[in-house]
Amino acid sequence: MTPPRANRYRSAWAGDVRAGDVGGPDVRVCGWVHRRRDHGGLVFIDLRDRSGLLQLVFHPEEAPEVHAAAHGLRAEDVISVGGPLVRRDEQNVNPDMPTGEVELGVRVLDKLADADTPPFQVDEEGAVDEATRLRYRYLDLRRDRMRSNIELRHAAVQATRDYLNGSGFLEIETPMLTRSTPEGARDFVVPSRLQRGSWYALPQSPQLFKQLLMVAGLERYYQIVRCFRDEDLRADRQPEFTQLDLEMSFVEEDDVMGVVDGWLQQVLAIAGITIDLPLERVAYDEAMLRYGTDRPDRRPGMEIHDIGEAFAKSEFKVFADALAGGGVVRGLRATGDLSRSRLDELTEQAKALGAKGLVWATLEAGGEWRSPVAKFLTPEERAAAAEILGAREGDTVLAVADTADVAARVLGSLRLELAGPQEGHDIFWVVDFPMFEWNETEGRLDPLHHPFTSPKGDLDADPAQWRSRAHDVVLNGWELGGGSIRINRRDVQQRVFEALGIPADEAQARFGFLLDAFRYGAPPHGGIAFGMDRTVALMAGLDNIRDVIPFPKTSSGADLLTGAPAPLDAQQLRELGVSVARA
Ligand code: AMO
Ligand code: AMP
Repeated sequence: MTPPRANRYRSAWAGDVRAGDVGGPDVRVCGWVHRRRDHGGLVFIDLRDRSGLLQLVFHPEEAPEVHAAAHGLRAEDVISVGGPLVRRDEQNVNPDMPTGEVELGVRVLDKLADADTPPFQVDEEGAVDEATRLRYRYLDLRRDRMRSNIELRHAAVQATRDYLNGSGFLEIETPMLTRSTPEGARDFVVPSRLQRGSWYALPQSPQLFKQLLMVAGLERYYQIVRCFRDEDLRADRQPEFTQLDLEMSFVEEDDVMGVVDGWLQQVLAIAGITIDLPLERVAYDEAMLRYGTDRPDRRPGMEIHDIGEAFAKSEFKVFADALAGGGVVRGLRATGDLSRSRLDELTEQAKALGAKGLVWATLEAGGEWRSPVAKFLTPEERAAAAEILGAREGDTVLAVADTADVAARVLGSLRLELAGPQEGHDIFWVVDFPMFEWNETEGRLDPLHHPFTSPKGDLDADPAQWRSRAHDVVLNGWELGGGSIRINRRDVQQRVFEALGIPADEAQARFGFLLDAFRYGAPPHGGIAFGMDRTVALMAGLDNIRDVIPFPKTSSGADLLTGAPAPLDAQQLRELGVSVARA
């Protein structure tokens, strides 16, 4: 780190002093008491600041008062100390510590703040329950692992800015108090005091503003921006999270994807992850068929295959009925020993995911199948299915007969379950998405992305068949980013609202400002947004984004440190004109 200005607290960073500084002027350092050891009359303290650790040594003879005071120091007390930097004896050199060749012989000690006994040890990475870590996040952030996550995040954000600034992008802010931007979640809303009964929505994304910036002729925009979505939380979701959001004018898919490819290469390199460009592009239909999801983790292999062909004339009712009803029979090949109880467990999981059952079969010598349904299948059918799946003696075949959606969901999930944790990195684009998906509960079409995504192909066809010009990036089974070429014509935008069942007057009320803007010369444009939290978490090899967010929320949306969300007092509610209904 750049050396600090010498002041009453420090002349150097604790973690930066080296053997080359020995023999120079006395050094002053400050920070927290990381660990204390009393040893043969000497007191040793590891002093910690952001830059690292430095061993302090307190001699009983050389500085008796300071030595006596050192006995009273406790973990996490804040101190500033000064004295000569000395070389450690050969046998005390610690090669694992950057400052391990030296120690500071303390002559002066100022105690700057006391610390109570912390609720968990800061100097150890041992398991502490997450609620305690979040309640005392400022202590958790003192720990090495969290500090390095925050540093990695900083590096990723800076590399992002450098890259985009160097590619002609302008960093532009968009409002936080705004109108609803539909991205498929519920809005967080803020009541207006000045206009009672009216509400702002916090942005689910800056989507509409970035499109307006393109209409405004700014050509290339980016923002590292907080977004808010009131949705069910998971390991990779927070109610507020950060996007790298960008938009470009007069572009086609290849322009957006090219910029993003270059960015990903630079940013992932910070974590030592190298990727070959251009990133591979996988069609949505292929992802759904082979992996059962539009955000596949391809690392375990174990692809799903359609084995309907093998059973086209089957008399096994389960398969025959599914095929006759326009459904599919799909399966995968699992290797390794699957016990009967494990197979029963997988069957239960399949059912919980909506399957009617799970066919399993362990292949034995001579093409025999050990399976509850073996007797219903002819040798030809079994051989044909094994052939498609590449299954050999000892392998287990799992199959589901159902609609394509259910078969994909069930096998996609069982596949990941069977595969277990994976090493390495698998990153690619998913393209050629359908424009809409059928929402069974509401009985209507929903956008697969958002309603501003440009459809492609024949718009006179049934909207359920439309494809879109969307592009997502998937890394190790996480959707890292999503974007598209946009609609820039009023008539097309109106057709999409129509297909979504949004009446013209409602579309005008909610999105009139965008439709109006399209009257005044809207250039073709497109862009994308990435989850910064997800990107950094995957770079750090983590399986949850909370560990790269300084102050995250729990799965119930609580901030355990501040106690948010909290009730408002009556006075505030009155001013806002808001009353709380009793449940
Ligand atoms: P999308 O909704 O796909 O696209 O969001 C982009 C990326 O943001 C991240 N993300 C989240 N991260 C953490 N917690 C959440 N709750 C959360 N929700 C989303 C994901 C996701 O890929 N306006 C469009 C982008 C565009 O079309 O340009 C949008 O927001 O990594
Ligand atoms: P059943 O005819 O319901 O007794 O089912 C016979 C076997 O086929 C059981 O092992 C079920 O788990 C399995 N099975 C039933 N329905 C399906 C289905 N749709 N897909 C896959 N396997 C199924």
